Amino acid sequence: MRKYHIHTFGCQMNEHDSEIIGGILEQRGFQATDSPDDADIIIFNTCCVRENPERKVYGRVAELKTLKIENPDLIIGISGCMAQQPGEAERIAKRLPHVDLVFGTMNIHELPELLDQVEAGHKAYRVWEGDPERDGGIIEGLPIRRVPGVSAWVSIIYGCNNFCSYCIVPHVRGRERSRRFEEIIDEVKRLGQEGFGEVVLLGQNVNAYGRDLKDGRDFADLLHALDETPGISRIRYLTSHPRDFTDKLICEIASSETVCEHFHLPLQAGSNRVLARMNRGYTIERYMDLVRRIRQAVPGCSITTDLIVGFPGEDDDDFAKTLRAVEEIRFDSAFTFVYSPRRGTVAASMPNQVPCEVKSQRIQQLISVQTEITEQINRTLQGEVQEVLVEGMSKTNPSMLSGRTRTNKLVIFPLHPEVSKGSLVKVKITETRAWTQIGEVVLV
Ligand code: SAH
Ligand code: SF4
Ligand code: F3S
Repeated sequence: MRKYHIHTFGCQMNEHDSEIIGGILEQRGFQATDSPDDADIIIFNTCCVRENPERKVYGRVAELKTLKIENPDLIIGISGCMAQQPGEAERIAKRLPHVDLVFGTMNIHELPELLDQVEAGHKAYRVWEGDPERDGGIIEGLPIRRVPGVSAWVSIIYGCNNFCSYCIVPHVRGRERSRRFEEIIDEVKRLGQEGFGEVVLLGQNVNAYGRDLKDGRDFADLLHALDETPGISRIRYLTSHPRDFTDKLICEIASSETVCEHFHLPLQAGSNRVLARMNRGYTIERYMDLVRRIRQAVPGCSITTDLIVGFPGEDDDDFAKTLRAVEEIRFDSAFTFVYSPRRGTVAASMPNQVPCEVKSQRIQQLISVQTEITEQINRTLQGEVQEVLVEGMSKTNPSMLSGRTRTNKLVIFPLHPEVSKGSLVKVKITETRAWTQIGEVVLV
């Protein structure tokens, strides 16, 4: 049997796309392998949100040249967001001539046809070049090879219309397109029957769900309709834009049984001047007001965020405002990024790009402030009993099981005879840290 290996970079949307690429390859008779060395086809499903993952792809694919010389039948493919950037297919052809297959984020369904071409001895390069206002529509019914586990990803909306000035995503994922309400409900029902206990609803901005469908139903209605799906005990969603977080949505989450008490609300920066130039559409005051309303409606919830340092023109005073916002809001945790200029975005050609040394000094300071806060918040969990959905063996310690609380905190605890992957258990937290909490099962 021929084997495939997919190397995925980037966010959950890309991870989920890789599950579809895997599904298509399995339909064609390929079998998954963890090792690129014994694969007949290797696909790099790429990300271009920052420069680093892009550089890694070029490096990794260049290294495969010798493998390709030893085995000329090996098929090497590059897909995903990086491949979808304007001019990238030409760059790949020039710098990585041993690549056989290139396809963009909106061409996954064309993979069978592209493989026919490759197997006939031709190169197949296809990226979406259509009308950016229409952007490919939605193809339903593609096979999905889900990673077996307790949690399943479900796309609800593709693309993004926000054009934050630093961000490449709208350029490579096209305009917002919502999946039909009934398609999502059916998929989640099936997942419940198949034994997944948790679903993660995916979109670059899930709060925009339904706007383009114009049938009057929005994200809050979708959560409401999914709330009592048999077998599904937890619903999560990624990512939501703070500007579009309505009171109706807060209310729905507060009253829902299954939607988890975790809010990931990317703030990006604490200075209104920077937020405006980022085109985020809110001020720090409005953001803080949203946090206040959420905490009031959903006591005990966790709030996490994304932050960027070194956006063009960010001065010491702007950065101090980010630090101050972090100290006032007290996020449970934060993903912190150094601004990375992306070709074709508005911010890349803004004046006053911040020097590398300043960016790296700022990110270190930000990480140290946030880590201290994360540790302090987690310390308050000491001795508490939390509901944990067990994901399986701990990756770092095989004598422990690992899972997450409803607030999305990672907990590890000793193996227990009645507890296995997929169990919902009560765990008492005995030791807390920044990234992992340690506990013991108190009730199965
Ligand atoms: N749609 C999601 C974010 C997708 S990208 C949202 O709006 O929340 C994930 C995170 O990467 C962003 O929240 C931002 O913090 C960061 N990011 C995006 N573009 C970046 C860039 N050019 N440089 C540094 N970080 C960036
Ligand atoms: Fe990028 Fe902004 Fe869209 Fe998120 S909302 S994907 S940061 S443009
Ligand atoms: Fe990266 Fe594309 Fe996701 S650029 S972050 S993989 S949408």
